[in-house]
Amino acid sequence: MTEFHRDSRVNADRFRDGMALLTGAVNIVATRSGDVRSGLTASAVCSFSAEPPRLLACINFSGNSFQQIAESRCMSVNVLAQSQEELAKRFANMLGGEDEDRFDYGNWIELTTGAPVLEAALAAFDCSVEEMLVAHTHAVIIGEVKDVLVNGGMKPLLYSNRAFTTTKGQYDEFPLDYIMAEAWY
Ligand SMILES: Cc1cc2nc3c(=O)[nH]c(=O)nc-3n(C[C@H](O)[C@H](O)[C@H](O)COP(=O)(O)O)c2cc1C
Repeated sequence: MTEFHRDSRVNADRFRDGMALLTGAVNIVATRSGDVRSGLTASAVCSFSAEPPRLLACINFSGNSFQQIAESRCMSVNVLAQSQEELAKRFANMLGGEDEDRFDYGNWIELTTGAPVLEAALAAFDCSVEEMLVAHTHAVIIGEVKDVLVNGGMKPLLYSNRAFTTTKGQYDEFPLDYIMAEAWY
């Protein structure tokens, strides 16, 4: 018989244990305010509407990046590929270093708003900030999408059960003769 793990006591740890099982895509949200670039790894990002093109990101407002986004009123959302796990760790402060050092890795370009955009991201959205709703520890930021970069062709970086992972199947690298022999479909 299936065993259900119910616990009506909801505290932060219990909440985190549940949310750890919500697998999410890993992104870097970045901004530029004057000469200063800042950014953080964020999985709390999703599409909001296509007409008009809007997305949302939930960012801890006690962090450095939020202060910069609030000032610059622009942000990029860079969807990471599996091969960019090192960058995800860097922007989550898992490797130490100063904020600006985070941009020493990868090629960062500008599109429309001036926010740094990772050229090799799976996809990237260059946004101006339309709305910000602050509640408790976080801000929900609605981004008005001004430009979209689409690379594709790589496996996504995911975060699941407190570890980086990826999808199985799409873009797996099998030798061509294996694909031909095994009737791929
Ligand atoms: C996989 C992963 C996902 C994360 N998602 C978010 C998120 O959605 N929002 C957020 O505010 N922080 C998130 N964080 C934490 C930030 O990346 C981390 O606190 C970062 O150092 C904040 O940088 P800052 O102080 O420059 O803003 C996440 C961390 C990891 C490892």
